Amino acid sequence: MKERILVTGGTGYIGSHTVVELQNNGYDVVIVDNLSNSRAEVVDNIEKITGIRPAFEKVDCLDYEKLDEVFTKYPGIKGIIHFAASKAVGESVQKPLLYYRNNLVSLINLLELMPKHGVSGIIFSSSCTVYGQPDKLPVTEEAPIKKAESPYGNTKQINEEIIRDTVASGSPIHAILLRYFNPIGAHPTALIGELPNGVPQNLVPYLTQTAIGIREKLTVFGDNYNTPDGSCIRDYIYVVDLAKAHVIAMHRILDDKQKDKVEVFNIGTGRGLSVLELIHSFEAATGVKLNYQIGARRAGDIEQVWADPAYANKELGWTADTSIEDTLRSAWNWQLKLREEGIQ
Ligand code: NAD
Ligand code: WQD
Repeated sequence: MKERILVTGGTGYIGSHTVVELQNNGYDVVIVDNLSNSRAEVVDNIEKITGIRPAFEKVDCLDYEKLDEVFTKYPGIKGIIHFAASKAVGESVQKPLLYYRNNLVSLINLLELMPKHGVSGIIFSSSCTVYGQPDKLPVTEEAPIKKAESPYGNTKQINEEIIRDTVASGSPIHAILLRYFNPIGAHPTALIGELPNGVPQNLVPYLTQTAIGIREKLTVFGDNYNTPDGSCIRDYIYVVDLAKAHVIAMHRILDDKQKDKVEVFNIGTGRGLSVLELIHSFEAATGVKLNYQIGARRAGDIEQVWADPAYANKELGWTADTSIEDTLRSAWNWQLKLREEGIQ
């Protein structure tokens, strides 16, 4: 058994896939999650996939005392991956204080507890949302941070700053900020995946719910953008490839291989795909015909963004190499599994 890692938000979508990859690489994982956007059964399913049951504590990262107790109960935690956050962009506009409190105070609690318990390394879930609409594409880590479009996006920017300021103050902390592009898909076993709350806001869960008949049709938000087919372009990354980037980043932290105390990596494929291209890839990969229509633009949408992942490719020795077809098939198999289980 390798080092012990604390994963906050570990029963969530990206967290659960990362716990699987950490365990497959021999890490001893402790999950902290308040289950505000995930289910306890995820722990059983992680065990089914890996044969190992991760330790699980139903604790809110806002609760400093309880979080403190977790570090005491599981001595020797060597690194942290901090996924726990509220992530719905639209909801953050309606409930900004909930987002600022949850996303900022959770991180602050962790950063205060780390020196107390001798933990120095943390990986933080950041987002390509910090770039807004980049002036140059593909976007590199050096691109300027643009004013956030939502309170959610702002929490990611502020969290990055909180980490930088804490490190600059001399706190014995070092960090890797991973800026994810658009994570999609599910584990090949279809035992874990994304569980959207209510009507999905994100493209792929809406698409698979439409394909299975939960939604009547998918609306493409705009076909009059300045892109080859007029629909928006994103960098869709397979969640398992994304999870693997965390394992490599954790090796880097624990092996003391960081070049700076705060490092930033774009975690994307480097491939921009339009909404219409994604729909057609889904149809080709699954043989399922999708009912869709062209609709109005969605307020706040970025026209096009995709990653330049060259720095992550070179420095981490990591690439996102799963094809879009395999990725979309995994999303579809997950949707079929949810129906089989009567969940969605
Ligand atoms: P998710 O909602 O599936 O997972 C987050 C988990 O954190 C959930 O299980 C939730 O119950 C838990 N949680 C929330 N607040 C908590 C708290 N105060 N204490 C303990 N647990 C708490 O989301 P996800 O898609 O897996 O995202 C994980 C991280 O990655 C988030 O920080 C998110 O902002 C970031 N991110 C996600 C995307 C994306 O498109 N999914 C893109 C970029 C960045
Ligand atoms: C993708 C594309 C839509 C739904 C959001 C957050 C971002 C990040 C990832 C965390 C866009 C189009 C969507 C639909 C559509 N999260 N679309 N019809 O907007 O790139 O990013 O999630 O950090 O911060 O903003 O992802 O999946 O919502 O949309 O046409 O019903 O699909 O316009 O072009 P987005 P998304």
